[in-house]
Amino acid sequence: MSARCELTINGKSIEANPGETLIDAALGAWLLIPHDCRSGQCESCRVTVVSGDVDDHGTRIGHTVLACQTTVSGSAEIRFEELPAPVKRAGVVRECRLLSPEIAEVVVTTDRVLDYRPGQYVRLKFAGFPAREYSPTCRLVDETDPSELVFHIRLLPDGQVSSRIGTGIKPGHRVHVQGPFGNAYLRDGDGPLILVAGGIGWAPVWSVARAARATQRDRHLVVIAGSRDAENLYMKPALNWLMDDGVREVFATAEIGAAHPVLSGRPSHYLPLLSMEDTVYVAGPSGLVDLVKHKARAASAQCYADPFLPSVQKASMFDRVRRVFGAGAGAPPLAIATR
Ligand code: FES
Repeated sequence: MSARCELTINGKSIEANPGETLIDAALGAWLLIPHDCRSGQCESCRVTVVSGDVDDHGTRIGHTVLACQTTVSGSAEIRFEELPAPVKRAGVVRECRLLSPEIAEVVVTTDRVLDYRPGQYVRLKFAGFPAREYSPTCRLVDETDPSELVFHIRLLPDGQVSSRIGTGIKPGHRVHVQGPFGNAYLRDGDGPLILVAGGIGWAPVWSVARAARATQRDRHLVVIAGSRDAENLYMKPALNWLMDDGVREVFATAEIGAAHPVLSGRPSHYLPLLSMEDTVYVAGPSGLVDLVKHKARAASAQCYADPFLPSVQKASMFDRVRRVFGAGAGAPPLAIATR
């Protein structure tokens, strides 16, 4: 058996066995690297190799590797971003307003601030209604108060929750919020950022865009937002804000009713030629997300997207492990998840 190796994870030194994955090596020392599928699919476990030797098993992009696939092959230092632990908050609906014929903005204030990364999502339960998952976002133009969570909700005529926005669910309604969850959050970096949104996928993408303009202004930014019908391009004020802020590649698309400057077609039609320097964030209908992920993979570009899940969702491996470790409230074992 080879000698044990020294692994430094976020500044903490541990001993690891050659051949074990970075995730298992970390767990052996009671350190939790965020992960989910453990099969190289979800990208949630990507870590940065600062120095030293690891066997990346073909997962390396730049200085990053997938910790669920990469094995220890010598001494090394790795880093990953520590995320806020999921918590529960009580809140109340403060505002409900239509942004377009089919999209409502709902603003919730909570008893204590809920910390999340731009692009993550939370589980929102309006009292008396089933829980749903939505990404907190920013107000389209005005500043967003840290004590408020802003959501974009598509109004489905037969939706158990969304059909009651403005009638059964209105200002004063009590809510419970749990989170944050998700891995499609803005990471540090210096390569171009390509943000793609369809419909209310604009919520996480707008959150990422605002954060990028606030903290990573030197990054080249491309933003593409679309809706099937031009009358539901509710994000236009935000797109104008980005252009006023100096972002030159901002595109709005619609399949129905497009007229200059709105481009005809889907957001994927206007995706730039991707390269391995690009980082792509995509949110929206699964067809759009799958297509953009496929194109990113073909170009070896990093792509982040949290899937819109079917109606019954198990807690992720990361959430289950987090509960074992006792960090935060974690997710319940079963939850409705129709974003
Ligand atoms: S890719 Fe590693 S946990 Fe999913």
